[in-house]
Amino acid sequence: MKELMQGLREASIKAISECGSIEELEALRVKYLGKKGELTGILRQMGKLSAEERPIMGQLANKLREDIENALEESKNSLGEKLMEAKLADETIDVTLPGVAHKSGHKHPMYNVLDQIKDIFIGMGFEIVDGPEVELSDYNFTKLNIDGGHPSREWTDTFYFTEDSKICLRTQTSPMQVHAMEKGVLPIRMIAPGRVYRKDEVDATHSPMFHQIEGMVIDKGVTMADLKATLNLVVEKIYGEGTVTRFRPHHFPFTEPSCEMDIQCHKCGGKGCPTCKGEGWIEVLGAGMVHPKVLAGCGIDPDEYSGWAFGMGLERLAMGEYKINDLRLIFENDIRFLEQF
Ligand code: PHE
Repeated sequence: MKELMQGLREASIKAISECGSIEELEALRVKYLGKKGELTGILRQMGKLSAEERPIMGQLANKLREDIENALEESKNSLGEKLMEAKLADETIDVTLPGVAHKSGHKHPMYNVLDQIKDIFIGMGFEIVDGPEVELSDYNFTKLNIDGGHPSREWTDTFYFTEDSKICLRTQTSPMQVHAMEKGVLPIRMIAPGRVYRKDEVDATHSPMFHQIEGMVIDKGVTMADLKATLNLVVEKIYGEGTVTRFRPHHFPFTEPSCEMDIQCHKCGGKGCPTCKGEGWIEVLGAGMVHPKVLAGCGIDPDEYSGWAFGMGLERLAMGEYKINDLRLIFENDIRFLEQF
């Protein structure tokens, strides 16, 4: 029996010292010290021993158990240390390595122009308002004095949502005039930038979606002179002091009188060049005095109040400012294009 224990001692200590993982170690513990393990197997034979031998063998067995347990514990500790060392070595961070730079984006060129315009109008006490792109035809047309037979109401020009043509994608930001007036708070000084939609084929100067900025002032005693003075000031801020403008008579159903404003070509000074297509002038916006019928329809007394409004295309302005020759570039979001601004 002594020999059996000696054999177990040698075999177990050797196996434990050579063991390479915590799992293997646990398996060895079960193998040697478990309920059905080798030491238990030897102890079962104690019954065969004499009364004198039994306590001596018992002592030896206890010592063996203790030694195997100690060996297991030691091995477990050193394995743990090795594991930790390996882990630390594996996760070493070289703080001298260069960092990963994050690419940061920047504002879209068209929004640069929009922000510039917003700043100009905010400086003059205007409010910036926002409104729906899905609009009632009542607001997009009828309340703006654009009656049922007007060509812009055709299905070939406007995106409608319903068979009865009552809901559409707004074709202009002018319904924001009506929304602002219907709020009933006077006086009004507002601009309303936003997307508008028309059934146009895409080309270098057309897109079924583009942006407009609507502007409107309603107060007592407002005249066409205020409109001209304000818009001249805005244009000078955008295109530089001394920029020459002209106001051409035009027609819009919701303004009376109506006009279009041109600026003298800032490239050629009015002589005619590719930028102004040889005209010497560049059209920038439509404007006019808000029609008395529109005022009255929004509950404002045209004998007491008057006002002016304008609408301008934002893309065209950005294209002029950044010398962009194709409208599609503004919407395609090609990073190679956008990175240039
Ligand atoms: N809504 C007009 C257009 O889209 C522009 C405009 C706005 C004209 C306000 C007069 C007053 O062409």
